[in-house]
Amino acid sequence: MRCRSWHDWPDDRSRRALAVRASPAPAELLLETDRLTLRPLTDDDVEAMTVYRGDPDVCRFLPFPPQTAGDIRARIGRVFGSTSLEGENGGVPVAIVRRDDGELIGDLVLFHLDAANGTVEIGWVIRPDVTGRGYATEACRALVDAAFRIYGVRRVVARIDAENTASARLAERLGMRLEARLVESEWYKGRWGDELDYAILAREWRQGGLPPA
Ligand SMILES: CC(C)(COP(=O)(O)OP(=O)(O)OC[C@H]1O[C@@H](n2cnc3c(N)ncnc32)[C@H](O)[C@@H]1OP(=O)(O)O)[C@@H](O)C(=O)NCCC(=O)NCCS
Repeated sequence: MRCRSWHDWPDDRSRRALAVRASPAPAELLLETDRLTLRPLTDDDVEAMTVYRGDPDVCRFLPFPPQTAGDIRARIGRVFGSTSLEGENGGVPVAIVRRDDGELIGDLVLFHLDAANGTVEIGWVIRPDVTGRGYATEACRALVDAAFRIYGVRRVVARIDAENTASARLAERLGMRLEARLVESEWYKGRWGDELDYAILAREWRQGGLPPA
């Protein structure tokens, strides 16, 4: 299946799947949960993001060293405001804003769209002073739900360093399935790291996955 092109899909079921994942990007993206608002990141968020993205402990399992405002702009500034997963630089980074005080408490991203297979990856980071309160779970539920419901993908994946136990627990709270452990698959920050691959399908999310908070 992997070697087939877009036009070679063999049956109607596959064609239906293609139609589902062709959902256009929304003009605007605003997701509300009990305690949080998720909206596209903008340049105005950068200073607040340095509070946690500049923290070495927070960055331990992130694929970059602690970031300055300039680093953040250079790395993801091109997708600020994006609501589209498509294209070479596609990706949807969202701010997690706590509703009761309007503070930015973290950010999430949908990225690495595999359009041919309807798969997208989710990434997450929240401020260390607000961990342990379920904010990440609440925010990720809303974004996973948007990936399926708004973007029409059929599979959401999370790639996690095996030592990142807080992230593995988060993936499990989201109802994601551990599908693989890639042993010493990547040289990561001075060591060979094991990668845990988690995933959930649209039908699983609809049937058994956790609903949006
Ligand atoms: C990964 C990360 C987002 C997890 O944060 P977190 O605070 O553990 O996750 P949540 O906000 O969902 O909180 C869940 C915890 O709060 C507890 N909790 C309290 N109230 C809760 C509620 N209302 N709902 C859910 N959980 C709640 C849970 O029991 C859980 O604790 P536990 O993990 O000790 O069992 C955070 O550690 C982080 O940003 N790490 C750095 C960035 C990073 O590594 N990103 C991933 C790269 S792959």
